[in-house]
Amino acid sequence: MNYPILLENVDFTYPLAEDDGEEEAREAAKPLFSGLSLGLPRGFTFMVGPNGIGKSTLMLLASARLFPGAGRITILERPSTDFLDAAVDPDLEEERNRRVSFVYQNMEFETEFPLGDVLELVAANSVDPAGAARRYADLLDAADLRERLGARMQELSKGEMQRAIVVMSVLYGSPILMMDEPVFAVEAHRAEQLFAYLRELCRDGSHTMYASVHDVELARKFGDSVVLMHSDGAVEAGPAEELLTRESLETAFRAPWDTLYRRQALYREFLNKTALTED
Ligand SMILES: Nc1ncnc2c1ncn2[C@@H]1O[C@H](COP(=O)(O)OP(=O)(O)OP(=O)(O)O)[C@@H](O)[C@H]1O
Ligand SMILES: [Mg+2]
Repeated sequence: MNYPILLENVDFTYPLAEDDGEEEAREAAKPLFSGLSLGLPRGFTFMVGPNGIGKSTLMLLASARLFPGAGRITILERPSTDFLDAAVDPDLEEERNRRVSFVYQNMEFETEFPLGDVLELVAANSVDPAGAARRYADLLDAADLRERLGARMQELSKGEMQRAIVVMSVLYGSPILMMDEPVFAVEAHRAEQLFAYLRELCRDGSHTMYASVHDVELARKFGDSVVLMHSDGAVEAGPAEELLTRESLETAFRAPWDTLYRRQALYREFLNKTALTED
């Protein structure tokens, strides 16, 4: 099978910070991944696993924002190390972004311009300007942002900002889009509406998207595939309906179903509360 992103025998360890004490140093020196081989699927894929297991790190590696200590990562047939200098070479950075773009957790966007102007600017500079123009109206509806086009970016609530950033990323049009916790501040019904639209985009084959989420129900509902990261370090990729079973979630999270389910319900309640006060 031909994977959009392929990891072969990947080792990764975060470098030590200068001021790390001995204990922190030992902890930080532990490899996060060692000998990880994994094909990341096409379509809409959710990254699922317990806190601190490495979802964000895996997404950063798979999009050439971080690089493996050993092994090889191939992104649409290019080794990720082709983009090693992207941080210091703006042309190379753009080349990388046009292949795979990244929505960071807690992303902010500071500008005086209103949302509508920013979206038009992104659409005009899109990898696929015709696709951006074609999708613009539907995307605005899916993200429920039509009423906010006149708002300046800094006037947007956290939930609105997250939806706006997803819209921007889709308009930008890279064939691969990585989204790290893209809807954690978005009310559940709005997150679902947006994900339903993204899933359709992925189904027509024009996009491949990956999203990390804490809400397993979102992954179950909208994911074609799942990357499940287990607390013992195992990582598996496969169809959502095969991997999101009670048994595999219990082993991945090392928690009994009742606790897991209660945690999810509390988390959803918390999200709804924050989204309601912020929107
Ligand atoms: N920049 C960094 N320097 C050192 N260690 C880091 C760094 N970023 C993450 N880590 C550590 O690497 C491990 C994996 O972190 P990561 O953020 O990838 O997990 P995650 O699955 O995304 O967690 P969460 O569910 O909280 O988002 C954690 O132990 C974390 O403390
Ligand atoms: Mg994370």
